[in-house]
Amino acid sequence: MSDFGTGFRLWQFEVSKMRMPKVGRVFLATCVGSLFILLLYFQSTSKPVESTGNSSRPEKARRSPLQTLYNGDQVALSAAQASLRGRRSHLEEGCLSHTRKRRVLSPEDLRHLIVDDRHGLLYCYVPKVACTNWKRVLMVLTGDGRQSDPLAIPANEAHVAGNLRTLAEFPVAEINHRLRSYLKFLFVRDPFERLVSAYRNKFTRSYNTAFHKRYGTKIVRRHRAGARPEALERGDDVTFDEFVRYLVDPRTQREEPFNEHWERVHSLCHPCLIHYDVVGKYETLDSDSRAVLQLAGVDGEVRFPTSAKSTRTNGDMAGRFFKSVNPFYQKKLLNLYRMDFLLFNYSTPDYLSVS
Ligand SMILES: *[C@@H]1O[C@H](CO)[C@@H](O)[C@H](O)[C@H]1NC(C)=O
Ligand SMILES: *[C@@H]1O[C@H](CO)[C@@H](O)[C@H](O)[C@H]1NC(C)=O
Repeated sequence: MSDFGTGFRLWQFEVSKMRMPKVGRVFLATCVGSLFILLLYFQSTSKPVESTGNSSRPEKARRSPLQTLYNGDQVALSAAQASLRGRRSHLEEGCLSHTRKRRVLSPEDLRHLIVDDRHGLLYCYVPKVACTNWKRVLMVLTGDGRQSDPLAIPANEAHVAGNLRTLAEFPVAEINHRLRSYLKFLFVRDPFERLVSAYRNKFTRSYNTAFHKRYGTKIVRRHRAGARPEALERGDDVTFDEFVRYLVDPRTQREEPFNEHWERVHSLCHPCLIHYDVVGKYETLDSDSRAVLQLAGVDGEVRFPTSAKSTRTNGDMAGRFFKSVNPFYQKKLLNLYRMDFLLFNYSTPDYLSVS
């Protein structure tokens, strides 16, 4: 019941206290630019600061989304936002009890954070969690005002690098300023439903030949005994079971990072290093998206596209795919995605045959 903002600040304070003794000494010696990002970020108070630049301020003076969230009037703090608050403390607690060593953020870690300077938003995009629609909405919000319907933007255009700016593109001081004063949000989804969705989209659709060539051929070569020559060459008939064995094979991540479509949210968005203000869920996409747009004060300007329920993967479907997977690999996969289950409060699916 007590002040939302205080809890947030307190936690940041504790983290900075926790870090300082060890890091303090190493700091001078290491002297790496990226260190500044984390230190300044943690030492700062979370109190939103007014932007001073006039370049891209909105016409009317309005509160920043962060101010609305932490000092907001009760009207703005709807029931939806109360559940967002619960998720955030769950995430904070999970981070405190499951990450032993804190690492320093580097610009490379910020590649998935999309910046909206006009409204003070930072969105970490996670593929297979409505990220096309969120990118479309952000293109509308950061655009020149001519486009107001997100769905009028072709999906492929939403993914063109350069149409939206990422936080990694900014100098360190600018990064720190944005991490401190912008509303940071991401959307997550049940990890295995997201995985099944990625598998279906990338390996069972005939048009995704780039994925078949790049990943499919390797998966067939390594995980199918007696593969036919056409399968080895095309890589277009990977089964879910083979895909899972590819993911849990230690060689896979030794060779290169996972593709972003199946990389864990924990690794894409660094939720224990970046303190997200809002954790939206795919399972409640419509109301969570509305809550974010309300906080940004733009719910009158842009509507988040309503999702087509028919294309969603549900628990039953994920269960059918997992039936083909040996319990030994189910367990390994669960371990691989453990942090995503844990930090975002998803329980072990009932359909698994692991104890
Ligand atoms: C802000 O606007 C004022 C008046 O319009 C101008 O004098 C000033 O240079 C601007 N500052 C910046 C940082 O753009
Ligand atoms: C975590 O999930 C459980 C079960 O779905 C739910 O009852 C609980 O409210 C959730 N906790 C938070 C903080 O969202």
